[in-house]
Amino acid sequence: MKELDFETDFQNKIDSEIKIEPKDWMPESYRKTLIRQISQHAHSEIVGMLPEGNWITRAPSLKRKAILLAKVQDEAGHGLYLYSAAETLGISRDQMVSDLHSGKAKYSSIFNYPATSWADMGAVGWLVDGAAIMNQVALCRASYGPYARAMVRICKEESFHQRQGYDIMMKLCAGTAEQKQMAQDALNRWWWPSLMMFGPNDENSPNSAQSMKWRIKRFSNDDLRQKFVDATVEQAEILGIKIPDDNLKWNETKKGYDFSEIDWTEFNQVVAGNGPCNKQRLKARVDAWDKGAWVREAALAYAEKKAVAIKEKAVA
Ligand SMILES: [Fe+2]
Ligand SMILES: [Fe+2]
Repeated sequence: MKELDFETDFQNKIDSEIKIEPKDWMPESYRKTLIRQISQHAHSEIVGMLPEGNWITRAPSLKRKAILLAKVQDEAGHGLYLYSAAETLGISRDQMVSDLHSGKAKYSSIFNYPATSWADMGAVGWLVDGAAIMNQVALCRASYGPYARAMVRICKEESFHQRQGYDIMMKLCAGTAEQKQMAQDALNRWWWPSLMMFGPNDENSPNSAQSMKWRIKRFSNDDLRQKFVDATVEQAEILGIKIPDDNLKWNETKKGYDFSEIDWTEFNQVVAGNGPCNKQRLKARVDAWDKGAWVREAALAYAEKKAVAIKEKAVA
C-alpha cells in the first residue's frame, strides 16, 4: 500500500469507530500528538498528588485520612496506567520522566496552585476532579485503544474523587459559620483555575480541529467548560455558597449560564512556569526521583540476580 492508502485506511477506521491499536499503522503526527497528550495527562496525575498528599497527615479524622489516602493512591495508579499507555506508542517511561523534570513536558496548570486549608481538599475533589471528569468521560471513546481503555477505569475512580470532595464541602457548609466560610474561601480560590483546566477558548485552540478529526477529542474546550459551569452552579446552590462571579446568569436562549471571561494573562503566566507553586512542584518530583534511585538500582540488581539463578537452574 502507498502512504496515501494507509492514511485513508487509518481515517476510515477512525470514522467507523474502530480503535487504533499499538501495532497498527498511524500517521507520525497522530503518534506525536498522543504521546504529548497522554504523557501530559500522566504527569498531571502524578504532580496532582502533591497538593493533596500534603494534607494526609492533617486530615481532621481517621476516616477522612483513609479516604484522602485512597484518593491520592488512585492518582498514582492513573499516572501508571497512562505512562503505560504512552509507552505503547514507542516512548520510554524514563524519557517521559526526564521531559517532565527538564520542564519540556507540561502538566495541568491547576496543580501549580497551593492547597492552603482543609476546605481545599473539598474544593479540589469537587471542582478539579469534577472538571477532569467532564474532559475524561469523552476520552473513554478516544480512537487510540490503550488510552481509551485506561480512561474507562480512571473515570470510575474520578467520580468517587468528585463525590468525596463534595462530601467534605457538604459537611463544612452544614457546620459552624467559620467552617462554611472556609468552604466559601476555597470555592473562591479554586473556581477560576478550575475553569482554566478546559484550556484556551476555541478560537485560540489551533490543534483542536485535527484532534476532533482523529477522535481523540470529541467536544470543544468551550463546550466542556459550559457543561461544567452548568452542572456546578446547582451544586453550589445546594451547598449555600456563592460562585465568585457577578456575571453568572442563566441564559434562557442558550439554556446555559453566562459567565465572565477568564483571566487569560494569569493562565498564560501559570502555564509559562510562573504560577504560585510551579518551582515547588517540580522540585518535589525531581527530589522524589533522586531519592528513589536506590530503589530502582536495588530492583534492577534483584532482577538480574534472579535471571542468573533461573539460567543456572536450567543448565543444571
Ligand atoms: Fe486522576
Ligand atoms: Fe482524581
